[in-house]
Amino acid sequence: MANTIKKIGLLTSGGDGPGMNAAIRSIVRYALHYGVEVSGIMRGYQGLLEEDIIPMNHRSVSNIINKGGTILKTARSKDFSTDEGKVKAAEILRKKKIDGLIVIGGDGSYRGASRLFELQGIPTIGLPGTIDNDLNGTDQTIGCSTAINTALETIDKIRDTAQSMERVFVVEVMGNKSGYIAMQVALAAGAEDVIIPERKFDYEAMHQAIIEGNMKGKISWIIVVAEGAAKAQVVSETITKETGLETRYVVLGHVQRGGVPSGQDRILSTRLGAAAVDLLLNGYYGKAVGVLQDEINVIDLKDATRRDHAHMDAYYDLLKILT
Ligand code: F6P
Repeated sequence: MANTIKKIGLLTSGGDGPGMNAAIRSIVRYALHYGVEVSGIMRGYQGLLEEDIIPMNHRSVSNIINKGGTILKTARSKDFSTDEGKVKAAEILRKKKIDGLIVIGGDGSYRGASRLFELQGIPTIGLPGTIDNDLNGTDQTIGCSTAINTALETIDKIRDTAQSMERVFVVEVMGNKSGYIAMQVALAAGAEDVIIPERKFDYEAMHQAIIEGNMKGKISWIIVVAEGAAKAQVVSETITKETGLETRYVVLGHVQRGGVPSGQDRILSTRLGAAAVDLLLNGYYGKAVGVLQDEINVIDLKDATRRDHAHMDAYYDLLKILT
């Protein structure tokens, strides 16, 4: 097929994640290698509507592979979420002679890219950029590995004080609809329990286990909570009330979104960036690109916006066996 893509637009959208810059670098340099121009669109779909668009060259992406955040900045755009917003966005892309759009973002960003393709015929490709790891068609999303490492580093420190002061700690991690980070972090931190949105949680059983453990001489606990499942403060206060043990809570929050991207995130981003350009140049539009079992995997954007992790129950059972 003759390549009709001469200029690619590139944006990051929604919550940022470590590794997005590595993806930007890969897309820019890979596209330039094949003689395709790249326009960087600032602040996601909002910047597109405001025509905040810059030309990018080899040097624009120097020294960013190891940086968290996104040099293109990001936003959650209310204006773009309307049908009129999408019409206007498509008009601007045509006016700027941008033939294809690569969107790095999560489920909301994917829905936008999918609609731009379906309603307006804009050739779009999605790269999974979210710490939540809640998109279909990829084993991991960009930023998730680093976010898990960041949370773990902090929980390891919390463990020191929990043990020294003989306390229960409840640690809230990110994940509004997805308990993936919470489950992985709980397993890797050796936590005693984990509360996630995908599983009904038996609070009474947890309180009972803490009381019984304490009677046998256990002195400290780490309970991990996904933000979408419960509030750490409430869980912590209830534990104190039901067990009589001193409890503290920590909300890790946005610290999980920043920092130096892990090797895994950089490699994933670098591979996906090049694959996204390949797709556009070969006439595949409205697609989400991921890596499944170490192979590049491509599915329709509209099928990529949701993911239910199959192994949450198995992970939980393992965690409970090991505590
Ligand atoms: O989508 C990524 C994420 O970090 C979620 O885990 C979290 O619920 C949300 O973004 C927080 O969004 P904001 O930065 O807009 O508060």
